[in-house]
Amino acid sequence: MDSYSPKRTDTHQSAHVPSTSLKERVLTLVAVGFVLLYALWTLRAAGPAQDHPVEPGTALMATLSPEKIPLTTGEEPIDEIFTRAGCPVCHTIPGIAGANGQVGPKLVLGTTGTQRISNSAYRGQATTVRDYVVESVLDPERYIVPGYPGRTMPAWYGLKLSALALEKIATYLEQQTEGEQPA
Ligand code: HEC
Repeated sequence: MDSYSPKRTDTHQSAHVPSTSLKERVLTLVAVGFVLLYALWTLRAAGPAQDHPVEPGTALMATLSPEKIPLTTGEEPIDEIFTRAGCPVCHTIPGIAGANGQVGPKLVLGTTGTQRISNSAYRGQATTVRDYVVESVLDPERYIVPGYPGRTMPAWYGLKLSALALEKIATYLEQQTEGEQPA
């Protein structure tokens, strides 16, 4: 029996010592975890600010997610087609009240459309201004208008605009010219 008691003490001690250091390790890991989470959070907070240097539209642009944009059938009045889709947040559109966004080009395709498709840097497939408008809305990355940011115009409008809505947008925009609207 005497030979057992020291062993028991040993076992007890050796069990006790690691349990303390395990606690310390867990605490250290938790602390390291928090530091890493904080570092990640800082990186995430810094990331979008660099991706979108365009400050003015930022708050409004946050509402431009596919879940928040309703389906547009094309039966709506033309100003409502633009407004529902959120185009005025980024574009100035002649004749559309409140459409004075500055993030993208002023939508006067009657003036600018032919310049775009005849530009040597143009990589799209449109040969008419009408097709260029449709292409710009469905596939904005196809050709980034020089001087404007890429990956900024939503690329999911094909999910939200019916063919009729696209028709009406194209018909309207191809008729807008720089001269028509002095403002
Ligand atoms: C979040 C901002 C944003 C929204 C919303 C937006 N656009 Fe744009 N759009 C841009 C930017 C930036 C460009 C220029 C860069 C490029 O070519 O992708 C552009 C380019 C265009 C062009 C080409 C213009 C040109 O002068 O060649 C057309 C046409 C256009 N947008 C139409 C629309 C329509 C129609 C809507 C709504 C259905 C819309 N955009 C919504 C940012 C936006």
